[in-house]
Amino acid sequence: MNQTIDTILNHRSIRKFKPEPLKQEHLALILDAARSSSTSSYLMAYTMIGVTDPEKKSALASISNQSYIKDNGHFVLFCGDYHRHMLKADEKEKETLAYNVQSTEYFMIATVDATIAAQNMTLAAESLGIGACYIGSIKRDLDLVNDLFQLPEHVVPLFGLALGYPDEQQEIKPKLPKEAVYFENTYKDDEAHMAALDQFDQTIETYYRTRSTNQREDSWTKQMIKTLHNRRNDRLTPFVKEKKFNNR
Ligand SMILES: Cc1cc2nc3c(=O)[nH]c(=O)nc-3n(C[C@H](O)[C@H](O)[C@H](O)COP(=O)(O)O)c2cc1C
Repeated sequence: MNQTIDTILNHRSIRKFKPEPLKQEHLALILDAARSSSTSSYLMAYTMIGVTDPEKKSALASISNQSYIKDNGHFVLFCGDYHRHMLKADEKEKETLAYNVQSTEYFMIATVDATIAAQNMTLAAESLGIGACYIGSIKRDLDLVNDLFQLPEHVVPLFGLALGYPDEQQEIKPKLPKEAVYFENTYKDDEAHMAALDQFDQTIETYYRTRSTNQREDSWTKQMIKTLHNRRNDRLTPFVKEKKFNNR
């Protein structure tokens, strides 16, 4: 065990923050951590937008009923971004670049790059005693997010990260065991896979029944069947295409 592993294994999302902004030195460090991430083909196809304006935070919070989008020490919006890659191209080059970055491959690269940067930021933050919670619910109104931050073509908002000094103690949420997520050389057969899931369901049932807040009766597999029953946002596909991503 070392401090890095300890930070990773102690992760839990924090949703209640002290009402103070992140210290400037902490913000600088977590931005450096994000910028240091691996990136496909050196593209660095992402942008982070820090949100400090209380009106913009309130507008973001209005998208979903999550007060911690507004009440935090800092909020960072992560976007996939090829806008900067075209800035210095001539008109003819721009046309080719604009065509190529609309591929699924470049969309995946931007999404992965942004996610790696966000996770580096999260771990750096947690190592400094800062709590974090990813915010995917901004996807419920990407048009509003787009307008709020005046995002140009080839820039697509992906998710947010609420950060701040924790004002709550959260238990660690159990995760799928190694047997359910790590296979060697070939995909696991369904019987062995299901045995691992049964074992995890028992762990999760106990966790939901005994945790300190919001106790409930549920298992992981029941919860996932419910989650995947929900239709997702139909506006997402056309929005992404209008932003000139994932069109071919
Ligand atoms: C991409 C992404 C989007 C998420 N969106 C939200 C969100 O909108 N609101 C929220 O409260 N938590 C959100 N979460 C946090 C998850 O609910 C949380 O990571 C998960 O339940 C596991 O709990 P833990 O982070 O405490 O281990 C999101 C996490 C990820 C990775």
